[in-house]
Amino acid sequence: MIHPSEAAGYTDYQHLATRMGHDLLERRILKQAGLWAREVHQGRGLFKLEGLVPMDDVILFLLKIAGLAETGRKNFLDVRILENAVFLPAMPAAFEGFRLLQLSDLHCDLDPALIDVVIQRLQEVTYDAAVLTGDYHNEIGGAHDRSLELMGRLVPHLKGPRLAVLGNHDFIEKVVFLEAAGLKVLLNEAESIERNGARLWICGVDDPHFFGTHDLAKARSPVPPGETAILLCHSPETFRQAAELGYALMLSGHTHGGQICFPGGFALVKNAPVPRRLLAGSWQVGGLAGYTSRGTGACGVPARFFCPPEITVHILKRSP
Ligand SMILES: [Fe+2]
Repeated sequence: MIHPSEAAGYTDYQHLATRMGHDLLERRILKQAGLWAREVHQGRGLFKLEGLVPMDDVILFLLKIAGLAETGRKNFLDVRILENAVFLPAMPAAFEGFRLLQLSDLHCDLDPALIDVVIQRLQEVTYDAAVLTGDYHNEIGGAHDRSLELMGRLVPHLKGPRLAVLGNHDFIEKVVFLEAAGLKVLLNEAESIERNGARLWICGVDDPHFFGTHDLAKARSPVPPGETAILLCHSPETFRQAAELGYALMLSGHTHGGQICFPGGFALVKNAPVPRRLLAGSWQVGGLAGYTSRGTGACGVPARFFCPPEITVHILKRSP
């Protein structure tokens, strides 16, 4: 096991370039460097203001004076297990009833109590494979050691094939640690799962929201014609391209379903350029079935209102 503090030193950038594409890796590293620069207050405008008065602290302060912080944290730790039936008519019969577990947006270091709750809740779920749709870390420019340690605790509790993509809060250097812990990170890549001689493909792309280093066509390229491909993409904002490329199912997170919502789950903040119906739960666009997780954790502030966190189990079926 590689210690998290040493993960960056183990990163083989040439190998990563062959996996995700040289130009996209270069783009990612440049953007990561920009984030670090802002962290030391070399940014402009709002980022400078954010450096002086962190917005998350302001929201937490407001929740405290309103007497809502405790309720918000209780809601944040109340992780629900949701089942979502997905109909994929062209899927091989061998995968009928296949149970695909999804975790998303854990942002582990925000509140370390979350991981123990998730580990406990996982004991109550049966599933055949696990996918994670990004954002393992909270404070983008800060040290990633704590979130890596917590992910190292969580991953051994996940069963079956364990596949993941990175989110807009994740640096590329954590790939080596996550993979050493037993999670296969898909960097515009695909892996197949076999069952009774049939195959199902899980394709995963790098973050499209901030880094813009996704390549849906490259991720799908190993899939032979006629075989079923499921896309993992941190944000649902690539849904049109996913439908055009013939993906059968797209699993995303990033939106947190709004995290702090009006009664009925109406999100106050919409952080992805998608129609509102794609912000949370199941959706359909043409032949593409989709699901946007409300997130298993939370970002910025350990609080949720009218938007419970979730562990999702997608049950794959060929017909309703
Ligand atoms: Fe997130």
